[in-house]
Amino acid sequence: MTAVIRLRPARPDATDMDPTNENTGASGTRARLRSEHGRTLRRARRVEEMLRSGGAGRMRAVEHRSLRSFAAFLLGAYERHMSAEESVVFPRLEQEFPELGETLRRLRADHDELRAMSRDLERLLSAAPGERRDERLFVLVMDLVELMRLHFHAEEQAVFGWLGRLRAAPAASKRSRGPRRAPSRRRASH
Ligand SMILES: [Fe+2]
Ligand SMILES: [Fe+2]
Repeated sequence: MTAVIRLRPARPDATDMDPTNENTGASGTRARLRSEHGRTLRRARRVEEMLRSGGAGRMRAVEHRSLRSFAAFLLGAYERHMSAEESVVFPRLEQEFPELGETLRRLRADHDELRAMSRDLERLLSAAPGERRDERLFVLVMDLVELMRLHFHAEEQAVFGWLGRLRAAPAASKRSRGPRRAPSRRRASH
């Protein structure tokens, strides 16, 4: 089996994905998300190329097996990636930068569409075999991979830069409180 996104626990680990966590930090979260995008896209591209090179007509058994494995990946590891973004990363950004609200709403809508397409893929793979079903599978996978590509691009462009600012925000607010008043004691002793 090919590489699978490794999110260690069965469900997202909030501490590990928190961009303000002092151990993992914004750059750790950004690197992890980017690396998962890369692995997911490489996998999606292999499926896309396989289907394109297969040409018209009925799919072979090996192609069906690859699609089943891709569907399981989407509903498992990739679902955990999206859940971690929705439950940890997006809320932290939204809390700190309310102006990102509309962007994050669109990214969440992409997630919903990607989830629906992944479930459609799983359903179609279990439907009665035939040329019509294989045509629908082909179109669905092409659309899904294209949406995924656009989504990753939008996410990296719109969100990743803000993760760095998120890390800077708490330090800046601490600094703004200013120094303690110890230096004025000397003057008070006159
Ligand atoms: Fe992502
Ligand atoms: Fe996402």
